[in-house]
Order: sequence, then C-alpha cells, then structure tokens
Amino acid sequence: MLRTALILVAAGKGERAGGNIPKQYRLLSGKPLLLHTLANLQKAYNFDVFCVVVSPEDNKVQSVLANFPLDARIVVGGESRTESVRNGLKALEDSEIDLVFIHDAARPFVSPKLLSGLFQALQSCPAAAPALPIPDALKTLKGDAVDRENLRRVQTPQAFHFSKISQAFKALQKGASRADDIAVAKEYGLEIAFTEGDQRNFKLTYSEDFAKAEKMMQTETYIATGSGFDVHQFEQGGPLWLCGVPIECGFTLKGHSDADAGLHALTDALLGALAFGDIGDHFPPSDPKWKGAASDKFLLFALEKLAERGGTLQHVDVTLICEKPKIKPHREKMRERIAALCQLPLTRVSVKATTTEKLGFTGRGEGLAAQATATVKLPT
Ligand code: CTP
Ligand code: MG
Repeated sequence: MLRTALILVAAGKGERAGGNIPKQYRLLSGKPLLLHTLANLQKAYNFDVFCVVVSPEDNKVQSVLANFPLDARIVVGGESRTESVRNGLKALEDSEIDLVFIHDAARPFVSPKLLSGLFQALQSCPAAAPALPIPDALKTLKGDAVDRENLRRVQTPQAFHFSKISQAFKALQKGASRADDIAVAKEYGLEIAFTEGDQRNFKLTYSEDFAKAEKMMQTETYIATGSGFDVHQFEQGGPLWLCGVPIECGFTLKGHSDADAGLHALTDALLGALAFGDIGDHFPPSDPKWKGAASDKFLLFALEKLAERGGTLQHVDVTLICEKPKIKPHREKMRERIAALCQLPLTRVSVKATTTEKLGFTGRGEGLAAQATATVKLPT
C-alpha cells in the first residue's frame, strides 16, 4: 500500500479577505473555515498523515483542532505559501510518504471525485493538479485577444510523488516564491498532468466569498418529511403502551411486540423520510426475537439510520385516533418520552388525539390507529 500524506497550508494572513482574524479561522456555518476543509478531506480519503502548516504567530490552531477527531501534525509555515509548503514537506521527510497532496485551507469544497482523479493521474505522472477551462474571452490590457484554448485555471489539491516534489523544492532557491506547487515541479522539470477541476472547489479569497460559501453549504442539505400509519386491535390485559408510556386502562393492544401503535407510526415516518423501507422490513413479525419487544428499539433503530446518513431530526407529530383510552391525561408524558428518545426539545414534539365520531373500527372501540410525520434534514 502506498503511504499518503496531506499538507494543508494555513499560514497565510488572508489580507484580501479583510476582517480581524486570518480567513482560515473565520466562521462558516458556525465552524472555522479550516475545519470544514479538514472534514471534507477526511471524508474524501483516508490519508495516513495529516500535516497542518500554520503561521508562527498562530495561537488558535490548538484550540480549533482540540475537539476535532484528527491527529494532525502542526508545522510552522513561512513568509510565502511556497515557504509554508517547503516546511510541510521537510516535516514529512522521515515519514516514508509515497504520495503527497498539498491543499489550500481556503478551499473547503474539496470532493472525493477531485482526489480520485489526482490519484489516477499519479499512476503515470509525478505531478498532477485539477484544472478548469476559462469560460470568458481573454484580453491583454491593451485589448489584444489571448487564445484561451491553451489556458487553464488551476486549483488545489496538487498531488505529487513525494520524493520528486521534495527534490524540486530543495532545488528551488531559498526564499523564492511561486504561485503554486506545480510551478515548482515544472521548474524542476517534472511532467505535469492536469485532471478535471471542480467549480465548487473555489478558493475563498475576498470577504464576499464567505457569503457565497455560506449559501453553498446551506444548499447541501434538504428537508424530507415521512409519514407513518399503524393500527392495533384491543384485547384483554394491560398495561397498554402508547408513545412509550404505559397506560393502565383495563385493556391493551394486541400485537407481536408491545403493539405501541404511536411509536410504530413514528418509526415508519422516520423510515419514510429516509426512503428506507418500513418497520416490517427491518423487524419482521415472523421473527420470535421481537415478541413482546419494547417499541423504543424500533424507533432507536430508525434514529440510528438517520444519524448514519448524516441527518438530523427536526420535528415529529403524532396523531392518535381512538375513542378510548382518553389520551389527554397522558399526552405530556408521551411528548416527554418521545422527546427523550429522539433527543429533541419538547417544542419539536407534538402528540395529538382525535376520535372518529363513533364511526369505523376506532369508533366502535375495536382498536386504535396512529399516524405520524417526521421531518428531517439530510445531506444532499
Ligand atoms: N498560505 C500559507 N502560508 C503563507 C501564505 C499563504 O500557508 N505564507 C496559505 C493560506 O493560508 C491559504 C493558501 O496558502 O490557505 C492560499 O493562499 P491565499 O489564498 O493567498 O491566502 P492568504 O495568503 O492567507 O491570503 P491573502 O493573499 O489575501 O493575504
Ligand atoms: Mg496569499
């Protein structure tokens, strides 16, 4: 297996972005820009070594990374981006790295596809960078046309065979500054491969770029609402479980599990929001394992699936349809129980009840129906 490293350069002053802290620490969706970039890199590829290059005056990096699940090496950068990269490469010299990816902290929208293009290019070339064509016409300041067919906008990560780019930086004059790392590679004579860039992978440079990035992050989620419905028949016995609360009313609900129609409807609502089948698919009534089971389990399973998908529950609404038992005396307890199971504030948990005016099976008191909606926020 080839050993891979990621160098994240975050030692700049962010002068063009203004503000009173360097842009890599400015908040985006409540989190420092740097953390968005690291989280996306981590999601995109399992690098063996992470190295974050920061300015010598930086006193924020430790606290910013403190609660982030990443064991990163912190390296002190230099006056220019080129010097910062040089220091990052030097710090990795004894780590037996085969491939190194060098990325700007100011580009949070790095994607798995971008990385896999680079990995592929490195199979036949010592240096690779994502590049995009230029859509606008190009002119010199004198108004002369420039042929754009041969020009590209180049992004990071830029990826290299570690030994080659290390040699290239060693060959570069001390203190020299270049626009990016493939410039250094090119000067050293390395062959460069360009891979397909990504419009989204833009570099936050000016203050207004933060508003643009904020908007892009918001559109990365969508709201889904699922609905669920369940019916159980009454039978002798007790207690009757409803929305996770035991009710002593002299009868109970018939079913394979504890027959809590409220939690079943809610579980199905959640599964519906995830488009992940229904409760019967995951907990077949034919399986003796679920005999008499507390229905909390089913709801917690659906909540776990939601978490695995990176989603969050926003709101739930349960309607119980029956002539008996009377729901009102138990309603607040039901809300509290659901809120605790779902880890939601009470203001986001609704339990309502209605009768069917003595009509139909609920009207005749043969059983009880429950319906529910669950509203979730999911990543696109
Ligand atoms: N960078 C660095 N060391 C430097 C200069 C820049 O590590 N001496 C990093 C920046 O932190 C940034 C990336 O290189 O993540 C790209 O540089 P740029 O967008 O120019 O950032 P800044 O130099 O911080 O911004 P500005 O040029 O506006 O001051
Ligand atoms: Mg700069």
